[in-house]
Amino acid sequence: MANLLVTGGAGFIGSNFVHHVVDHTDDHVTVLDALTYAGNLDSLRGLSEDRMTFVKGDITDAGLVDELFSQADAVVHYAAESHNDNSLHDPRPFLDTNIVGTYTLLEAARRHDLRFHHISTDEVYGDLELDDPERFTEQTPYNPSSPYSSTKAGSDLLVRAWVRSFGVRATISNCSNNYGPYQHVEKFIPRQITNVLRGVRPKLYGGGQNVRDWIHADDHSSAVLTILDKGEIGETYLIGADGEKNNKDVVELILELMGEPRDSYDHVTDRAGHDLRYAIDSTKLRTELDWHPSYEDFEAGLKATIQWYRDNESWWAPAKDGVEAFYASKGQ
Ligand SMILES: NC(=O)c1ccc[n+]([C@@H]2O[C@H](COP(=O)([O-])OP(=O)(O)OC[C@H]3O[C@@H](n4cnc5c(N)ncnc54)[C@H](O)[C@@H]3O)[C@@H](O)[C@H]2O)c1
Repeated sequence: MANLLVTGGAGFIGSNFVHHVVDHTDDHVTVLDALTYAGNLDSLRGLSEDRMTFVKGDITDAGLVDELFSQADAVVHYAAESHNDNSLHDPRPFLDTNIVGTYTLLEAARRHDLRFHHISTDEVYGDLELDDPERFTEQTPYNPSSPYSSTKAGSDLLVRAWVRSFGVRATISNCSNNYGPYQHVEKFIPRQITNVLRGVRPKLYGGGQNVRDWIHADDHSSAVLTILDKGEIGETYLIGADGEKNNKDVVELILELMGEPRDSYDHVTDRAGHDLRYAIDSTKLRTELDWHPSYEDFEAGLKATIQWYRDNESWWAPAKDGVEAFYASKGQ
């Protein structure tokens, strides 16, 4: 049995990963999470102490990080400021957590010679034209658009440098947009689902033509475990499940699955610099490491996600009013 240290394990994708590890391995998980507005201890409820230990703390706290690294066998780094809209409003926390935080962890990985996996996003590659025949691959040049994606790109480059300069045993994965349980209501899919549950019309940025490549968070987790197990040190792997959909189609599908007319939503002011299209080519992960997603039917995954938000109002309700007040102040 190994002790996995998971940063950001009380956030959306991190908590899905912790549940996945507990369900599919014998490993123990130690979660390090600062419980920012995006972290929620309730996302880890039901996990017993002998499988999961929670430590509240900041990844920029070098002393605490050092102590936790001394007890771990491997580290998976999810902690980040992750919301594009927030990064346009106040970029500073993105620099602190995504850049300085990752630097702090890399220095500890170097001191303790620990296996390190860095979680990143396809947003580091910028965006594609709607009719571009190419998708992102591991060779696509970095071209981030927002303070969020540029700080994630910076953190990826730090990892690459610490591998090359100091021999840190790290891998990187860049994943497409995730959906599933435990996602904060500020994000696109949960925001629309919880609006409908509250009897409020969903909000669509601009014309809704922006394309995202959706993957279920549980498939992201299985891909990360695969990379941790079989990935080659120093390599980057793109994670995606061929789930391209434009935002308009997603909103209309949510409405249909929730028994509402497909056109009962409002258009709101678009996000500044809104990336047009992301699309992942995950051939390397599939062919070299033999990983395959299990949620290949987006509609079925979305239906299950809607049901989760129906069943877990006590999880999302406390954040809902504050999020909508923030969007309203931006005309969105
Ligand atoms: N959401 C997506 O669709 C997506 C897609 C690809 C990659 N990613 C990446 O996956 C990771 C997790 O994303 P998410 O959507 O789960 O984010 P999230 O915002 O839901 O969760 C982030 C977690 O990190 C914690 N955290 C933030 N700053 C911290 C700090 N300084 N110290 C310790 N903990 C801190 C928060 O409390 C929270 O629990 C991020 O690195 C993100 O870039 C996300």
